[in-house]
This record gives sequence, structure tokens and C-alpha cells, in this order.
Amino acid sequence: MWEETKEITEIVLRAARKASQEPISQSEQALPGKAIHWPVECAIGPGLEGAIACESKVGYVNGLQGQLVYRGYDIFELCAYSCFEETCYLLLHGRLPTSSQFGSFRKQLAEYRHVPKTLRLLMSFPVEGMNAMGALRMGTNLMRQEFTFGDLEIAKPDIAQAHESDEDTISSEADPGDKAESFYSFDTTNTVVLTSMEETIAVSGSRKPAKGIRHQEVLQDTSSLDSCCHLIAGAPTLTAAIARIRNGQMPIEPDPELSHAANYLYMMTGRRPTEIEERIMDIALILHADHGMNASTFAAMVVASTLSDIYFSVGAGIAALAGPLHGGANEQVIHMLRQIGGPSNAKEWYAKARARKEKIMGFGHRVYKAYDPRASVLGPLARHLALENKEAQVLFRTAEALEKEVIADLGQSKSIYPNVDFYSGIVYSCLGIPTDMFTPTFAVSRVAGWCARVLEYLKKNRIFRPRAIYTGRLGEKYIPIDARHSAGKPSKR
Ligand SMILES: CC(C)(COP(=O)(O)OP(=O)(O)OC[C@H]1O[C@@H](n2cnc3c(N)ncnc32)[C@H](O)[C@@H]1OP(=O)(O)O)[C@@H](O)C(=O)NCCC(=O)NCCS
Repeated sequence: MWEETKEITEIVLRAARKASQEPISQSEQALPGKAIHWPVECAIGPGLEGAIACESKVGYVNGLQGQLVYRGYDIFELCAYSCFEETCYLLLHGRLPTSSQFGSFRKQLAEYRHVPKTLRLLMSFPVEGMNAMGALRMGTNLMRQEFTFGDLEIAKPDIAQAHESDEDTISSEADPGDKAESFYSFDTTNTVVLTSMEETIAVSGSRKPAKGIRHQEVLQDTSSLDSCCHLIAGAPTLTAAIARIRNGQMPIEPDPELSHAANYLYMMTGRRPTEIEERIMDIALILHADHGMNASTFAAMVVASTLSDIYFSVGAGIAALAGPLHGGANEQVIHMLRQIGGPSNAKEWYAKARARKEKIMGFGHRVYKAYDPRASVLGPLARHLALENKEAQVLFRTAEALEKEVIADLGQSKSIYPNVDFYSGIVYSCLGIPTDMFTPTFAVSRVAGWCARVLEYLKKNRIFRPRAIYTGRLGEKYIPIDARHSAGKPSKR
């Protein structure tokens, strides 16, 4: 599959060999092919540590051995030989596709990558000033628009009317910015014309789907496999558009000839990536696609378990991923490395950060007590990309120096090693992705895992409803406000 980029495959295979030589402490329980008997007994810590919420065949994280598996396939193997589209198919369907299945799946993704109505709605909001994850979350919700109208069973609005009312509210909008200017206007045939200084792109907003898009016919069930493909395909288009709008530029339409990874970079940067860039982006997407019952996956599953739908579930996943303890760490890492300023400052910076009892971004993991296999791949890829990029070279050498300090101090004693977010930011920067789009880029990939796990869970759905141990007071008597002496303290009567 990747004839032209053999050197990158070699980097992955070398990382795999190195990881396999790491000392293994113990092995973690996996029950391949066996169902567990409920109820299960397990020790639970705060943050649901150790809790078993469901069974899954989607993926497996062996934190003690530093092993990550999707549907039985080791992550190194997938990075070396597969591609993101095939990995999505594997996650969703549970098996690798035949060539005809793969062809149809890629075609479907190519169709669903066009989300003109959603973009049109998204651009009616001040995306320029919004948090990027907030904008993406809103965008995935807007992809649900057909159904949102459908939900209003009484007096379902006509979509053409909805378009007209849109026109009234935002006949034009401007973002002069420093360098670029963009303004949007709507013509009377419901075609939205996006205009910038240099380019004019017409995106169909009519009721008839353009370019064979068949959302209206197919997406009847908002938690179907089709809806999942819609979200997997649409998320990069939205993310790239958000990046461009925030930069005072106009969105770029997907190119049906390009792969998922290449399209993402092309729609974001306006430049078709080289084969090496495409390949590295593709590997980064594979590495982030699924990761057990992490916070965002769990958030998506909790929402789905109420029989809400996949669009709302993915929105919940995006919200959870935004936090700095989860997906937001990749942005924080780059800020941290810039703050350190160079490899020679790493030792002193780390000593001060430890003295302040700060957590070092990009290190530690709830599950991994060994080197995160995703970091094992991303580190060497960052090194490779940084060879031809001076700024990235400094960042990479600073990261290497910091990694040495942290592992020397906390590796043995607390099993703290670099996680997926430590090197991903350097990789993304070299690929032309702006820092504030790192976490949305994580979401572009993870949407596959969220969908696969939600679809699996819904087959035997039971609404999530854990308990909290009540440690508050009982038997309080209500005191009228005028009789209360001080806040929070019950008055003596
Ligand atoms: C990922 C993370 C949230 C896991 O949290 P957790 O499982 O709840 O682990 P805890 O926060 O309880 O940490 C356990 C111990 O390791 C230490 N630790 C964990 N991560 C650390 C880090 N990044 N830097 C320094 N110390 C760290 C904690 O201070 C704690 O020490 P203590 O036992 O002396 O109190 C945590 O490691 C972290 O905040 N990392 C930084 C953010 C990050 O990179 N997130 C991306 C995850 S992919």
C-alpha cells in the first residue's frame, strides 16, 4: 500500500522492534473470545479507576506491556501496513475489508466529506472568535441539521424557508484581520457564495444534494453506520474549515482524488501534501483512532446509552477531549517546549516545575505504566520531520532532553513515561497544522473509535448509571432566609 514511503514504514518497524525489547513487568488480564459473567467484582478507585463498565471487542490497551490493539491487530502492524480509512473500516466492522468493500467504503467517505450545508450554517456563527473544539462540537451538531428539523414533529419547517431566514440574519459578514479579508453572501437560489480576496468558492446549499451526496436519503437513523461514516468523513472537512476561517481564509472543498489524510492537510493548508507528509498524517490518524474506555469515549457512550444519537454522542466526546488532562495536552506540550526554549534549559526547567509540584504535560497515563506505543512511533516520526525544519528541530531536541529528565526522575518510581500527546504536536506543526488545531485533529481521528464503541454498545444497550457514595448531611430543616445567621452554617434554634 505504501510503496513510495518505505522509509516511513521502516521507522515504524524499527519503533516496533525497540518497543518489543522493552522489559515487561506483568501482563494485564485480557479475556480473548470469552464473555465475562455479570456482575463482576473489581476494585474501583476515584475517577472510576479499575471499574469495568462493559465488554468490548473493538480495542485493547495493555498498559503494563505498552500494547495497543484494534480488533486483534497490533497498532505497530496497522501503522506499518494499513491506512486510516482501512483502520476505520476495521474498527466499525470488526474485520479488514476486501478490496471491493474497501472501494465502496472509500467512495462513501469521499461523498460524505462534502458538508456544504453544515459549513454554510457554521459560517453564520463567529467561528473566528470561538474555541476551536467548541466550533467543531457545534459543527458536528450542525451535521445533524436534517434531523433537527425532523425532530420538530409539529410544523416541521421547510428547509428552503430555513435557508431564507438564514439569509436575513447574515447577509454579509466580515473578518478583516491583519492580512486576509473574507465575507460571505447568499444569493437567491440558496447557493452560498464564499468570497475572499483571492478566491471564490461556490458551495451548493440547495435542497438537491450536490456531487451525488445522499445524506437525506440514507441518514434516516441517526445512530446508523451511515451516520458514523458521515461523521468520520465530515469531521476533517469541518476542522480544516474552522482552521481557515479562524485565519481569515475561506474553506476549501475536499478533493475526491485524495486520501482522508491528504485531504485533511490539503483542506487545512491549501497545499497538496507530499507523499511523506500524507503518510505521516495517516499514521498519526491511525494512532489516535481508538484507545479503550478513555474519558471522551466514555462520555460518548454515556450519551448514546440514553438513546440519544451518534451526533450528540460525538459532540460529548469532543467536549471531553477538549480538556488539558485529555486531548488538550498536545497543545500544552508545544507551549511548554517553547517556554523551555531549548534542550540546555530542560534540566533547570524540569527541576523548577517539580518543585512547584506541576504535572508535566505529555507524560503519565491512567492505563500505561510502560512507554506508550503511540509515543514510540510519533517520537521517531517527529525526529524525521524535524530534520528539515529548524524551529521543529529545537522543539524536538528540547522534548528529547525533557523526556530524559522526566524518565530519570519518575520512570522507575512512578511509571511515568511520554504519552501520545508528547510528540504529536511536533509532528502536527511540521505538517502545517496550527497549534490551536492540534486537539481538533485528535478528534478528527478519535471520532472513529467513538463511533465503533457506541455502535457496539448499542447492540446490548443499558443506560449508564453509576452511584456516588453520599457523604453529606441528612435531616436538615429548612430555615427561612431572614433567619439564617451565616452562609452554610445552620443556625441554632
Ligand atoms: C494522564 C493523567 C491525567 C492520568 O491521571 P491519573 O491516572 O489520575 O494519575 P494521577 O494524576 O493520580 O497521578 C498519579 C501520580 O503520578 C504523578 N503524575 C501523573 N502524571 C504526571 C505528570 N504528567 N507529571 C508529573 N507527575 C505526574 C501524580 O502527581 C501522582 O503522584 P502522587 O502519587 O505523588 O500523588 C496524568 O498523568 C496527567 O495529568 N498527565 C498530564 C496531562 C497529559 O499529558 N494528558 C494526556 C493523557 S494521554
